[in-house]
Amino acid sequence: MKALVLSGGAGTRLRPITHTSAKQLVPVANKPVLFYGLEAIAEAGITEVGIIVGDTAEEIREAVGDGSRFGLDVTYIPQAEPLGLAHAVLIARDFLGDDDFVMYLGDNFIVGGIAGLVEEFRADRPEAQILLTRVPNPTAFGVAELDGDGRVVALEEKPKRPKSDLALVGVYLFTPAVHEAVRSIQPSWRGELEITHAIQWLIDQRRDVRSTTIRGYWKDTGNVTDMLEVNRTVLETVEPSVEGADVDDDSEIIGRVRIEAGAKVTGSRIVGPVIIGAGSVISGAYVGPFTSIAQNCRIEDSEIEYSIVLQGASIAGVRRVEASLIGHDVEVTPAPRSPSAHRLVLGDHSKVQISS
Ligand code: DAU
Repeated sequence: MKALVLSGGAGTRLRPITHTSAKQLVPVANKPVLFYGLEAIAEAGITEVGIIVGDTAEEIREAVGDGSRFGLDVTYIPQAEPLGLAHAVLIARDFLGDDDFVMYLGDNFIVGGIAGLVEEFRADRPEAQILLTRVPNPTAFGVAELDGDGRVVALEEKPKRPKSDLALVGVYLFTPAVHEAVRSIQPSWRGELEITHAIQWLIDQRRDVRSTTIRGYWKDTGNVTDMLEVNRTVLETVEPSVEGADVDDDSEIIGRVRIEAGAKVTGSRIVGPVIIGAGSVISGAYVGPFTSIAQNCRIEDSEIEYSIVLQGASIAGVRRVEASLIGHDVEVTPAPRSPSAHRLVLGDHSKVQISS
């Protein structure tokens, strides 16, 4: 069995945070969302992985390399334009050969991985298996309609009037039957060859298409509340360690805290779950639960909790930052007068002055 990971798409910048132009590299607990997918694939016992890359190919290649550090053998498959998920399958035909495969959308996050699903698929081998999850905003997804027995009867891409709240999750399991399907469909109104249509084609041909409904799913939609929540969930599983970090005696480290080698903590109180990236300096600060601080950040004489701070940002003399997403290279400094809490969403290179 192989894996096809979709990390193409146009290089449009993310709203509201613009950490990077590749949305698959948005960090969750200091690790790109794409890496969790690659780890899940490796854990499912799959080693041959094709990664579809587009405008942001350079960034993706730089981050993933040859895949060996995930225990994977990665082949890059360039897609000249983002012409759809089914188009990606079409151009990956040579790589996929006649093997079964899991298609994994690089901006999707599945809590608990996919090993169980892959095992189930291997045992039963339906022609296609899709994953569904209940969402509050089905119009933003592919949506499935099931019959009384839980069988998929119809799929619709981004419907205006969804027939259910069951969204298609970006993990699909296919036998080579899908190749005929992707060759048989036409582009949608948005000009894309939709995988949803290819699966609908299989259903119409009375092929065996099954579904599994899961919980614990996240997709980057630029929604800060959701991003903080997924960050919180993942931080709860981070292995605590302060090995190689420089933590002085005046500092107090409590609970599940991971401080990467090369980070420095002086006169600070860190209450986990927290992760602090290499090269960051935390001094005279309080870092509270569910906070991820990326590499080369500076948190000085400040308090921060339940937040995400991206690479190179600095926060100095500010109390207190909560439920915030601080972009790449942002500087936060005090201004006169103060409310006691701040909620911030700041893009790359922003500079703000806030009361402290
Ligand atoms: O995330 C789940 C949803 O993904 C499903 O509910 C939808 O049915 C499915 O069509 C897809 O919807 P999106 O419109 O959200 O997909 P998006 O354009 O964001 O692309 C998903 C990933 O695939 C993303 O990592 C970019 C990559 N991609 C996308 C296209 C269109 C490619 O590599 N090549 C492409 O041509």
